[in-house]
Amino acid sequence: MSGPLVVLVGPMGVGKSTVGQLLAERLGVTYRDTDDDIVAEQGRTIAEIFVDEGEPVFRAIEKAAVHRALAEHDGVLALGGGAILDADTRALLAGQRVVYLSMDVEEAVKRTGLNAARPLLAVNPRKQWRELMEARRHLYEEVATAVVATDGRMPEEVTEIALDALELKEA
Ligand code: S3P
Repeated sequence: MSGPLVVLVGPMGVGKSTVGQLLAERLGVTYRDTDDDIVAEQGRTIAEIFVDEGEPVFRAIEKAAVHRALAEHDGVLALGGGAILDADTRALLAGQRVVYLSMDVEEAVKRTGLNAARPLLAVNPRKQWRELMEARRHLYEEVATAVVATDGRMPEEVTEIALDALELKEA
């Protein structure tokens, strides 16, 4: 299988970067995050891209960044929460080892709360979360080869469960 050793998907705030870095450490590989790639390439924050150019332009930038990272990176790769909205990206993920980190809406509201840095949740976070997850849950499930529920769990525990699910843990 070429491409990353593990790809992490799931909604914003679920802990992809924390768990991703722990997983990479445990597996002795490097960690990469497509949101970080976008910020580095664009020289501005994701919130600024949304405000300056709107979501469709952000999604096009994101799609290119995700496809580049899938081709280049061989460690743990975390994708931005909305990357799976793109059908071509989902098709590329079909041959990959993909872990979906899930959480329920109440946990999501608790974790991301009133975080204005996340442009999709700026107003009425509970309603936005419900709609967002209704639209996306099946897409996360479609690309996932393993699902790890993070509700009430610390990142270390989530990492152990993901390692078990992936059967990649060293003896
Ligand atoms: C988004 C998730 C964010 C970021 C952008 C849009 C989404 O990434 O790409 O704010 O649509 O769910 P994280 O999941 O890394 O927070």
